[in-house]
Amino acid sequence: MPPLHTAALLLLGLILQLAWTSPVPIESRELKEEYDYIIVGGGTNGLTVGDRLTADGKSSVLVLEYGYFDNEVAMHPRRMFNITSTPQPELGNRTFFVGLGCVVGGSSSVNGQVFLRGTKQEFDAWAQLGGRRSTWGWKGLLPYFKKGLSFSPPDEEQAKEFNIKYDPEFWGTSANIWGSFGHGNLRGVMKLFYSAMKNMPGMTVPSDSGAGETGLYWYTLSQEPENWQRSYSRTGHLDGLNRENYEIIVGAKVNKVLFHRDVATGVQWVSRNDTELPPQTVRARKEVILAAGTVHTPQILMLSGIGPAPLLKEANIDVKVNLPGVGSNFQDHSYIPSIFYQCKLLLPLGVEPQINVTRNPNGGGGPPSLAAMIGLPTISPENFEALAKKYETQDPREYLPEWYDRTLIEGYRQQQKIYAKLMRSPDVTFNEMMLFGPGGSVQNLHPMSRGSIRINTTNPEGGMIVDYRAATNPIDIDVMVEIIKFMRKYMASPYFEPYEPRELIPGPNVMTDADLATWARANIIPSVFHPIGTCAKMPRKWGGVVDEDLLVYDTRRLSIVDTSVMPIIVGATTSMASYAIAEKAADIILSRRRHGGGGHGGGHWGRDED
Ligand SMILES: Cc1cc2nc3c(=O)[nH]c(=O)nc-3n(C[C@H](O)[C@H](O)[C@H](O)COP(=O)(O)OP(=O)(O)OC[C@H]3O[C@@H](n4cnc5c(N)ncnc54)[C@H](O)[C@@H]3O)c2cc1C
Ligand SMILES: *[C@@H]1O[C@H](CO)[C@@H](O)[C@H](O)[C@H]1NC(C)=O
Ligand SMILES: *[C@@H]1O[C@H](CO)[C@@H](O)[C@H](O)[C@H]1NC(C)=O
Ligand SMILES: *[C@@H]1O[C@H](CO)[C@@H](O)[C@H](O)[C@H]1NC(C)=O
Ligand SMILES: *[C@@H]1O[C@H](CO)[C@@H](O)[C@H](O)[C@H]1NC(C)=O
Ligand SMILES: *[C@@H]1O[C@H](CO)[C@@H](O)[C@H](O)[C@H]1NC(C)=O
Repeated sequence: MPPLHTAALLLLGLILQLAWTSPVPIESRELKEEYDYIIVGGGTNGLTVGDRLTADGKSSVLVLEYGYFDNEVAMHPRRMFNITSTPQPELGNRTFFVGLGCVVGGSSSVNGQVFLRGTKQEFDAWAQLGGRRSTWGWKGLLPYFKKGLSFSPPDEEQAKEFNIKYDPEFWGTSANIWGSFGHGNLRGVMKLFYSAMKNMPGMTVPSDSGAGETGLYWYTLSQEPENWQRSYSRTGHLDGLNRENYEIIVGAKVNKVLFHRDVATGVQWVSRNDTELPPQTVRARKEVILAAGTVHTPQILMLSGIGPAPLLKEANIDVKVNLPGVGSNFQDHSYIPSIFYQCKLLLPLGVEPQINVTRNPNGGGGPPSLAAMIGLPTISPENFEALAKKYETQDPREYLPEWYDRTLIEGYRQQQKIYAKLMRSPDVTFNEMMLFGPGGSVQNLHPMSRGSIRINTTNPEGGMIVDYRAATNPIDIDVMVEIIKFMRKYMASPYFEPYEPRELIPGPNVMTDADLATWARANIIPSVFHPIGTCAKMPRKWGGVVDEDLLVYDTRRLSIVDTSVMPIIVGATTSMASYAIAEKAADIILSRRRHGGGGHGGGHWGRDED
């Protein structure tokens, strides 16, 4: 063989090699026609599942992400959707920003990095809402919290000085998503907040922030242990993997799932870069996985003809599966940003004694954080029973959207039964208080009102219509009033007496329950950017959208893996539970492949297409 020829072959080989190991991201012209799995949304859940499905080096995955790669993180308009809620009549017709990441890494790229888990009884409620054999309770999820999350302990001296309890038993060691205590100065004044809260009647201290219990504890942030940079789905499940079977295309907006009969065969998407380009399609051999989040997974389903039939008809969309639950059961945490106190000697807070440990050289991240996660009986020993009784005797139809059908009402009734118990449990978090100053924000982590996410029938592919329906169930205001009163009890603690705390907001003119309720309606913000529930994992007869294996009812090879499947919200920030859902989902999807399943009631896996 002449040498020139050899060189040409080598060059050709090199070119082929380069093409073959095409690193992520890929461009649209490099797209293959077909992949084993298509994942819609390269966010928190999407990238976690993508990593696990491609770990064998063989199964091919394409992730389609609407956002772009962005080397900066944290909240910024460039990395967010721009959605404003509908006016909220019970909150004085105020509208609210609907915070959602639109970037590779999704909301985990822009979130507040507060890394809280939720309590056993909340996860057990997920199982109860899934039927007798459900494995989505605390026991079934703990292994996935451990698989999904590594742990980095606090500085030893700091832990001793500030009572930072932790137990690595509740964490794993192999994942590349980190809950880290971080190092940095803790102001001595934190000891005061700690003691005052610890001595509130009924307050407990769990062995770890991830123990699934309420109480007073120090918690981690989602940050790397070495340099305290943000730890999120992109750093944990995409960057550096460079697997030739794991591809992502950015600036790609998926509009619908394609079907052959009831089998999902691929997706149709449009370019965000050039909206004049015709829609393109890409096919999935094994499964289409929707991970576009609580607001946009319902949109893609609805555009595909899966959702509440009356709404779809109004939008001139052919109904493929009448699933009333798509876009309903919408929940978020709600909060009041500031119960404001002035303290005499506490100011300025920074002059209190501090313990010095290594500073974060990169400026990001933060030292251990302190929170009180409090059950309703501890918030209000006087009134919790009356509130639970009032709630459990409600007729849910009075407070749900008028378009809720029989199944959705029944699903809410099931939640109501469970919540009547959770309200009476000291071990379910209703109020989260982050302790870093006098007073501060208060949160209701279990609103009973249910909102909706619906397409705009005159522009179905445009922005979604997000309605929190905040405080449409009046019990939410009652609970918030008790939560504010708890803050007052805490600030009246003898520990604060020497500092003469004075409440400025809402202040001494707002004293009666009725006045507090009025003030709450004017100050509640109905979202902590933790939207969930719009494609709930519940039986279909209870208005569910996916089954226990996360498959969409009445379809095959179509699953949902994101926060929309949570049937009720956890009393904790939502990203940690997202990682656990994604880890468990990946196992389920992989076992489907082994058993040749992928549909309902029978594992039919044949070549249905074409
Ligand atoms: C500002 C903010 C602060 C938060 N603070 C905290 C916190 O401190 N602690 C905490 O634990 N949680 C926090 N959260 C919540 C938490 O981050 C989310 O619950 C979680 O990340 C959601 O995961 P997901 O996979 O469901 O959705 P996402 O991570 O949002 O992923 C969905 C992805 O799908 C993409 N997408 C949407 N539509 C389409 C489409 N049609 N085609 C293609 N792609 C699409 C989106 O661009 C996005 O990347 C916060 C969230 C926000 C927005
Ligand atoms: C859109 O543009 C970005 C940035 O140039 C590019 O990386 C991406 O591949 C493009 N996406 C599509 C679908 O063309
Ligand atoms: C939201 O608005 C900002 C500009 O304010 C823009 O950069 C961004 O692309 C918008 N997001 C979406 C998803 O359109
Ligand atoms: C809110 O808006 C609705 C509809 O426009 C109106 O009927 C109602 O009076 C308003 N409520 C308040 C408190 O402004
Ligand atoms: C902590 O460090 C600061 C700045 O280096 C110093 O001024 C202060 O005295 C130190 N405090 C303690 C308790 O060591
Ligand atoms: C629905 O879309 C139409 C057409 O784009 C727009 O004029 C209208 O404001 C949208 N409605 C809502 C509630 O966003």
